[in-house]
Amino acid sequence: MNFAVFASGNGSNLQMIIDAVKKKRIKGTLKLVFSDNAAAFALTRARKAKVPVVAHLDPKGFPSREAFDAACVEFLKKEKIDLVVLAGYMRILSPAFVRAYRDRILNIHPALLPAFKGAHAIKDAFEHGVKVTGVTVHLVDEEVDHGMILAQVPVEVSPKDTRQSLEARIHKAEHILYPKVIALFTAGKIKTKGPAGAV
Ligand code: GRF
Repeated sequence: MNFAVFASGNGSNLQMIIDAVKKKRIKGTLKLVFSDNAAAFALTRARKAKVPVVAHLDPKGFPSREAFDAACVEFLKKEKIDLVVLAGYMRILSPAFVRAYRDRILNIHPALLPAFKGAHAIKDAFEHGVKVTGVTVHLVDEEVDHGMILAQVPVEVSPKDTRQSLEARIHKAEHILYPKVIALFTAGKIKTKGPAGAV
């Protein structure tokens, strides 16, 4: 199974995926790393790891989100990508993108969905004063931070935590969980139909 990782920023999750592919923990082929941001450190990581295709498209060069996503999908098809892994990709996918890869787009979110959707989940959970938060891996559908939940891990918040210390533990949990779920998915071990996710 060929898969692509989409990332807009640092790419620490991408790095863990690269490492898991190298160690053959993930049996799928990481064929493409894509970013909407030319300056994303994720692209540097991908080039260093010699991912076969490392690509960037600037959304400003397109008249609409739909047009940008259509170019992405065309590119994914051309590269024969079977699975799209979002790892800190900061754009909302258009419905046509979701339809083109229905049940074959994964996302990781730094909270226990459906709580704390959105781009500031760790901060929002911390400021809300929750005692437990965590990490979710889910299928992407037409709604933001929605779609079938495939796996979750809890992260406890201690009274001594600062936002930064909590953030660090959440990222650590992400780095363990995402490669595991991708390994299962690329091995065909995750059910994407039915009442509940399978991990
Ligand atoms: C992660 O916290 C992920 O859950 C969220 O964006 C962040 C990306 O971090 N969707 P990185 O670029 O993988 O370091």
